Amino acid sequence: MTGSIQQLKSWQALATHASEMRHTHMRDLFAKDPDRFVRYFKEASGIKIDFSKNIASEKTWKLLVELAKEAGLPKQIEAMFSGALINGSEQRPALHVALRNSSERAIFVDGVDVMPQVRATLDKMERFTWKIRSTQWRGFSNKPFTDIISIGIGGSFLGPKLASAALKPYWNEALNCHYVANIDGSHITEVLKHVDPETTLFLIQSKSFGTQETLENTKVARNWFLKNGGSQATIEKHFVAITANVEAAIAFGVDRENIFPMWDWVGGRYSLWSAIGLPIALTIGMDGFRALLSGAYSMDEHFRSAPPEENLPVMLALLGIWYSNFMGADSYAILPYDHYLRGLPAHLQQLDMESNGKSVTTHGLPVDYQTGPIIWGGAGANGQHAYHQLLHQGTRLAPADFIVPLHTHNPVATHHEILFANCLSQTQALMQGKTLAEARQELLAKGVSETEAQRLAPHKVIPGNKPTNTILFERATPRTIGALIALYEHKVFVQGAIWNINSFDQWGVELGKQLGNSILHSLLSKQETSGEGSFDSSTQGLINLYLAKEKHF
Ligand code: F6P
Repeated sequence: MTGSIQQLKSWQALATHASEMRHTHMRDLFAKDPDRFVRYFKEASGIKIDFSKNIASEKTWKLLVELAKEAGLPKQIEAMFSGALINGSEQRPALHVALRNSSERAIFVDGVDVMPQVRATLDKMERFTWKIRSTQWRGFSNKPFTDIISIGIGGSFLGPKLASAALKPYWNEALNCHYVANIDGSHITEVLKHVDPETTLFLIQSKSFGTQETLENTKVARNWFLKNGGSQATIEKHFVAITANVEAAIAFGVDRENIFPMWDWVGGRYSLWSAIGLPIALTIGMDGFRALLSGAYSMDEHFRSAPPEENLPVMLALLGIWYSNFMGADSYAILPYDHYLRGLPAHLQQLDMESNGKSVTTHGLPVDYQTGPIIWGGAGANGQHAYHQLLHQGTRLAPADFIVPLHTHNPVATHHEILFANCLSQTQALMQGKTLAEARQELLAKGVSETEAQRLAPHKVIPGNKPTNTILFERATPRTIGALIALYEHKVFVQGAIWNINSFDQWGVELGKQLGNSILHSLLSKQETSGEGSFDSSTQGLINLYLAKEKHF
């Protein structure tokens, strides 16, 4: 599409329709339609979503579906699955779906079917995982491994960390898994304090093998290993790399045999399905990892074939567009009511914000509409005692997904019933709110005087009409977690496709990296400067402050 999406007929119709819907309360939508839940409850690949608590009428849905069609969504979905170069600024396809394609379908990149490489890498992961878990592959002193340290950042960290934590009940108890991401020395120091070099396996996770944080942390890990009993000759037993840049990993000293490949047609934030998922496979076993892939594959097939009005990722995406572009929402909350899923908001922050935090179209023209929202969130019920106040009575519209399993892995007293009740009561309260009359009546019923009820009631009013989706599944199994993550990947894709932006590049993160190198150079040179230099006065002043720190303390 070359023109602005604002010129689409459906977009304009949605803008007009929004001015009506801004005065519609969900209470009324529910009152008018006793079947609203049944109408808007959808299910696929083990994921169930209640879409009914949204400020959306039948007309809203009809227009949103028209928008998807007018924006050419079906064609764009096919383009992704068939390996078209949809990442235009890097001239690459985005083929995370190939990593979980369990059909016989070939997928071509530059005329070559990538499926044999994908399957061969899964087999290599399977052999490696089996050797470590069966204790056949041991450390330099012949002891079995007890700890894995995954060193990586961004997509080489958040996805594996989320999935391995989400599946903690499936872990092999004999193997502990730790993640080191940050360049802050405190991170690796704290992790290394608790492990033994004889029984620790390091996974160097970097698609580019050029990420400063990961390489610096790997050097620290290698030196620690060498200083604590390891040797140059035994590094190969303890260090494994997962990268698309095999030569850089070899140059760094990793044995060729110990390198698991990935490919430039897999985006970092979509890479947990590749060998970057090794920490997941090592903790839950390769059968579990394959089940994770099969859950994602099932969601892929649903996404590819279901009509828009039954298609979970499409519906989730369309609602997001409705609120961002027509109802004035700036943010979107991810609220998992599951301790094991507490890492989901962080993973979705990268997935969504790095994908759709863009302000030019695929043709390089400035967009004249909002794109990706600010993603935030945290585990329920904890959030209810913190930021939910703003959701209920604040002035901003913040749509939210409440995510909850029907069964817990840990039935403790009536905890799960209480957790589940809290989740439902939040979405109910956000939808229906409390009117001034209700607040006043409630106070009077408690025996408060008329004057006092009059004074207090406005503070107790909850406007309601705050949209939520309730996302449920039976239990957090590898299959459902795979489907859940893929659901959000496709949601983000659909939004990017409709906004006509490239969801698969991330040039915005580069400037900070470039400037960081010059600042680092100045810090290491220990030369305070004044007057006109290559930095603005603020940055220069702060550099000087850092360089002068020895003088102060
Ligand atoms: O800086 C952003 C980023 O490039 C992410 O897109 C990526 O997931 C992360 O850094 C890590 O990159 P790599 O896997 O190449 O080390």
